[in-house]
Formats: sequence, structure tokens, C-alpha cells
Amino acid sequence: MNNIKQADTKIWTEKIRELNKGKEKKFHIMTMGCQLNENDSEKLAGILNEAGYIKTENIEDADIIIFNTCCVRENAEEKLFGKLGEVKKYKEKGVVIAIGGCMMQEKHITKKLNESYKFVDIIFGPHTLEQFPKDLYEKLSENKKIEDILDIDGQIFEGVPVLREDKIRASVSIMNGCNNFCTYCIVPYVRGRERSRNPQDIINEVERLASEGYKEITLLGQNVNSYLVSQKEKGEDVNFKVKVQAKEMIVNSFATLLIALNEVNGIERIRFISPHPKDFTDDVISAIKQSKHVCKLIHLPLQSGSTKILKSMNRKYTKEEYINLANKIKKEIPEITFSTDIIVGFPGETEEDFEDTLDVVKKINFEQVFMFIYSRRVGTVADKMENQIPEEIKHKRFNKLKELVEKQIEVQNKTYVGKSVSILVEGKSKNNKDILTGRTESNKVVNFEGTEDLIGKIIDLKIVSQHMWYLKGFYDKI
Ligand code: SAH
Ligand code: SF4
Ligand code: F3S
Repeated sequence: MNNIKQADTKIWTEKIRELNKGKEKKFHIMTMGCQLNENDSEKLAGILNEAGYIKTENIEDADIIIFNTCCVRENAEEKLFGKLGEVKKYKEKGVVIAIGGCMMQEKHITKKLNESYKFVDIIFGPHTLEQFPKDLYEKLSENKKIEDILDIDGQIFEGVPVLREDKIRASVSIMNGCNNFCTYCIVPYVRGRERSRNPQDIINEVERLASEGYKEITLLGQNVNSYLVSQKEKGEDVNFKVKVQAKEMIVNSFATLLIALNEVNGIERIRFISPHPKDFTDDVISAIKQSKHVCKLIHLPLQSGSTKILKSMNRKYTKEEYINLANKIKKEIPEITFSTDIIVGFPGETEEDFEDTLDVVKKINFEQVFMFIYSRRVGTVADKMENQIPEEIKHKRFNKLKELVEKQIEVQNKTYVGKSVSILVEGKSKNNKDILTGRTESNKVVNFEGTEDLIGKIIDLKIVSQHMWYLKGFYDKI
């Protein structure tokens, strides 16, 4: 594939090391977006680590502060500009301030930054992330302001160093960009067209993670079940002969990628976000069914339960098609559970449309619902629609949906009580150091008393009580 390149980060990180010789420099990254954005932050951390910087959680100690921005909803802008106001004071002691991420692809934002926030040193976008060490070197050696944004679709860069936060669960991006243009969404404009990583590169990364002791991976992409599809459509041969644990296999689709990754020794759980309902083909269903390590929880973004609104959103499925798909998957894999994303208050949404959304929520009984109030995004089709919904109605509907979801989750959590479940132990609870925390395959958080040696292991325990956001477990083999 000619859009895949090897990153030359090392050349620049070594030059930065040379510049900073003898000084202990620290970096602080603020991640403001989705899991892809977090994944990018881990790459930035990897780059800075290679360049000799040490990570700090304390912004006041940092010699370089990076904001990794998101622009999927409006409040992200207020948040960024608020934070910039707070960090301006650090400029006096020579701190470098850099802003990257999706929001930097929006022209009106970079214009505002250039006009009113002149103290920002480096502006870069998601397409130029791997060039960040070059930008930083130029900033440090020539003390000039850097703006490094590319309007093209971008490429896939392999070999960028990664510094991960977690030692048990890791995210692995398998593709970038989106071709769907849902009418509310800014992502296709800022992340460019779909492009997939080479499967062998993904497999190598997952094998490396397994050898480092990772137990769970989450495959990331805006539309994971169209992995390799755009290459296929361009007429490229996508039948990749790959090696997984020395075994030869063919990967030519998302389904075959799942089957291949299932073979990696040591990886106990494989998750993926997000598939698009319109592309959920039967081969993916059977791959999930046959792959022991693929979690039987599917995040299936609904967005709306109204066929009329779904059409206006350009989602390309109807209410009935969504429900039928969920039922079909459930029939094939009875233990499957679902989670979803829902937007309320999309332009033109009537009470009746909203009722359709509630109806689907009642029917599917999701394990988790990520709820969003529709937010107008400049440049999208929906932003130009006339029948925008007043804020108070949007909020009212949001609260009603939230109430329903919370009620459902309460009932659902009760069904866990008394049952034995398998959890992957992730670590100590943030609030209480004597308590360990883990998750079920269906992503429910379980807290329990246990010893540190259990961290990273999959164990069976009994659920003794349920709370809104977690379950309490009892582990009797301490
Ligand atoms: N590609 C993924 C996720 C995209 S962004 C997918 O298609 O599922 C994550 C979620 O943010 C979306 O699923 C959607 O529910 C929400 N979202 C996107 N644009 C939005 C907007 N303009 N207003 C409110 N929510 C939005
Ligand atoms: Fe946005 Fe739709 Fe693409 Fe998801 S599939 S990133 S919601 S355009
Ligand atoms: Fe993610 Fe936000 Fe970009 S949701 S892809 S960081 S716009």
C-alpha cells in the first residue's frame, strides 16, 4: 500500500536530546477527545519520551504542554480557550505550548489562535502528528512559531513510538478517517478519508503487546467494519498473507482480522469500536461467534430510533433494520450484549421521533448508552438545516432518555447479583486502595477485595450487590 510510510521520528528526537543535554525536561499532555485521540496522545508521549522528556501529571512542572484537541461537540472549544487562558502565565518561564488534534483542522480555529493567542508555539494536526518532533526541534533551535497542518487525507505512519498509560489494556488503531459523512458529524472533515493499516503491522503490534503482558486490546477506527474496504474499492489486492504466532493466515477484511488476532497468545480479550450498523456483515457476526477472545459485547451506535431522522442523518439504515440486525446477532450469539451512542435533538426531531428512540432503547436493553445532545458543527450538512431544536427541548429529551437508561441499567444490574462472573482485574480502585477493580466481558465495572497479585488476571467471582455505576463482587480464594 503506497499510503503507508515509515516515520522518521528518531532523527528528530535525537537532535532534541542533544539540545536538552544535561537538563531534565518534563512534558504534560491534556487529552480532550475520543479513544483515537487518546491513542494519538500515547504516540506523542512516546515521541517525547524518546526525546528525553519525562511525563508529569502536574502542569506547573512541565517544560512543554500539549493540548490534544477534539471538535466533535461545541463545548470542546470553550474548554480549549479556557485552558489556554490559564496556561498563558507559564510562557514567562519559557514553557513551550503546543496544540494538536482534530480541532486544528478547522480554519476558523487556527485563525482565532493566530490572531488572539499569539503565545501558542506549535500548532499541528492529526495528519502531521508524526512530524511533531521535527516541529519541536525547529521551535527549540530557531525559536520560531510553527504551524504544521495538512489538508490532504494524510497517510498511515508506522514506527511512531508509543508510551502507554495502562499496563493491562491497550488500544490499537487499525484505520483512520471516515467516508460516511453522517450529516451531524465533523469527523470526516478533520480526519480525512478512510485508510487502513497493513494487517501484519497490526498483528505485530498486538503480539508485542502480548509479550509485554497486556491482556486486553481495543481495536480503534471510526468505522472498523469497513477495514480494508476502501482499498478494495480502489481495486487494490487486499488478500494479505500474514503470520500470527508463526501460523500463516489470510487477512482481507475486518472479520478475518478478528480471526487472526484471536490467535495471539496471551491476549485474553479483544474489543473494537466502532462498527457501523450498515456494514455489519454476516462474516463479522460469525467471526465474533467463533473467536473465543472477542468480547461478546458489541458497541453498535444507534444515533436515533426514528427512520425519518436516521435518513436525515445519512445513517443508511432504518429503525427496523437496526432492530433486526441486533436480533440476528442475538440469535447467532445468545450471550451477546450491546452498548450504543445516541444523539437527541437532531434538527427536525419531533416528540414522535424521540419516542422511537426510547422505543429502541426499551427493546434492545443496552448495557451502556453514551448520550449526546446534538451540537451544531460548522461545515456539516445538519448545521445548515432550518428546523434546529430549541436548547430546552433538547435538554428535556436528554433527561428523559437518561432516566430511562438509568432505570434499565438498575434492573439489569440486579440480574447480576448472586451470579458468578469472569472479570479481568485492572488494578486498584481510585477511591479506595484496598479495593481492586475489574470489568466483566460486558464492560460492567466490578469492585472487590483482593490482593495485588490478581492484577492482570482473569478471575471468577460472585456478585453480591449492585450499584448504579458498578457491581460489588466477592472473591473467595484470597
Ligand atoms: N465513528 C464513530 C464515533 C464518532 S464520534 C461512530 O460512528 O460511531 C462519537 C459519537 O459522538 C457519535 O457516535 C455521535 O453519537 C456523537 N456525535 C458526533 N457528532 C455529534 C454532534 N454534532 N453532536 C452531538 N453528538 C455528536
Ligand atoms: Fe462521524 Fe458517522 Fe463517520 Fe462516525 S460514521 S465518524 S458518526 S461521520
Ligand atoms: Fe475523536 Fe473528537 Fe477527533 S471524537 S476523531 S478527537 S473530533
